[in-house]
Amino acid sequence: MNNINQMEMKQPHTREDYSALVRRHTERLFSLYGKTATAFIRTFGCQQNVSDSEKLAGMLSEMGYAMTDDPLSADVVLFNTCAVRENAEDRVFGNVGALKAAKEQNRDMIIALCGCMTQQPHIAEKLKTSYPYVDLIFGTHSIGRLPELLWKKISEGGRFVDISQEETCPREDLPVLRDGSVRAWVPVMYGCNNFCTYCVVPLVRGRERSRELSDIVREVEGLIQAGYKEIGLLGQNVNSYGKTLNPPVTFAQLLETLNALPGEFIIRFTTSHPKDCTHELIDTIARCEKVCKHIHLPVQSGSNRILKAMNRKYTAEQYLELIDYARAKIPNVAFTSDIIVGFPGETEEDFEATYRLIERVRYHSLFTFLYSKREGTKAAELPDDTPHSVKQARFDRMLALQRKIGMEHHENLVGHTVRVLAEGKGKTAPGRLTGKTEQGVIVEFDADESLIGSFVSVRVTQALLWAVVGTLETKSLI
Ligand code: 5AD
Ligand code: SF4
Repeated sequence: MNNINQMEMKQPHTREDYSALVRRHTERLFSLYGKTATAFIRTFGCQQNVSDSEKLAGMLSEMGYAMTDDPLSADVVLFNTCAVRENAEDRVFGNVGALKAAKEQNRDMIIALCGCMTQQPHIAEKLKTSYPYVDLIFGTHSIGRLPELLWKKISEGGRFVDISQEETCPREDLPVLRDGSVRAWVPVMYGCNNFCTYCVVPLVRGRERSRELSDIVREVEGLIQAGYKEIGLLGQNVNSYGKTLNPPVTFAQLLETLNALPGEFIIRFTTSHPKDCTHELIDTIARCEKVCKHIHLPVQSGSNRILKAMNRKYTAEQYLELIDYARAKIPNVAFTSDIIVGFPGETEEDFEATYRLIERVRYHSLFTFLYSKREGTKAAELPDDTPHSVKQARFDRMLALQRKIGMEHHENLVGHTVRVLAEGKGKTAPGRLTGKTEQGVIVEFDADESLIGSFVSVRVTQALLWAVVGTLETKSLI
């Protein structure tokens, strides 16, 4: 009797048990029909979701599924969803609706939805009642249960829902199938404790949990050995990394530790919360040669009244002090930010304060959002009587300002030589590669594909709105 038969006889308990059972199913399909089982994953939302999807892909691959780009022919279709704004949710519903016809063609197709959107009880309920062809619904705390849910679906049929509020399966040992070979995402913490009043994230991702420093170091060492050149540290608020560890560790200490690892690589991180961004952290960024000189520091608004209503816990003045301190300590530092326009009660005067702050900071780029009401958040209870057209006009004004500033940053680079990590094929012309500077500026340049994954010097010749174009100089060493 082989191992798997023995396992079928005893009750499966662990992720590995369930994974082996599904694997036997996919192997049986292959021996009967000569067809490798396939899975399609579509990821909506932020880098944390991208990172979770790499774990979902890792588990699917362990279970014998080959990843495919074609949802219509896949045996498993998985959407990893985002809840941060309403239009993200609408897009998911649209895409799920489109799968109905595919499922009618292929009745064995398993459709699964997971992530931030499905973690919300009202959404899980809507999916259960209005989308009967969705087989598995699970939330952010249950991604490690994918093998178990899949096995139950395969062996028992029916539908399964798990939106537990607590982590049901540890993430630490999940297998990972990474998207690229140059940049690797490494979560350093999960969840968020901040309860910004507009934001659904603390409701769907739970309280802050930091990974052990030694686990992060081990993962990064492995990635460097595997040839990754950019380590992207992830967390909703990386600046509060380590506060809950015993003994506590700071994010600055984590950066310092990773910076000391041998090898040719760079470190980026996102996202920083201004309230936890200390001078110590800025000094560390200045000192650590592998840490990119780019700080994504979401301000959300330039009005103190709105910042208070958002529960951001800093003032515009405190934010600007941080910017000035970093500019004094880190030559050529670049800032990017997130801004919400049209928060409930935002007046013309509040918006002007945001506009002036953008003029003062001169961000390299901005992620700008129209406020979106999220069920369960405090801001959802606030009166919001500003007409959409007024909000849109403010949004457009802000975008025009940022376009001008972003273009000026790019024009300032023309004639200069910048160090770029070549990441992949470019968009602006055939034969071009794309990469980023330390400051996060996208650079496109003519070069051979063999240079993907190398640090190169590029002389900038042309500024575009979203990137700069240049010519390759000699290949540079770090
Ligand atoms: N409406 C609009 N934008 C939002 N964000 C988060 N919640 C909302 C919301 N309800 C934005 C914030 C955050 C980014 C990831 O998404 O700017 O920093
Ligand atoms: Fe949301 Fe604020 Fe937490 Fe960011 S810090 S995830 S905006 S609650």
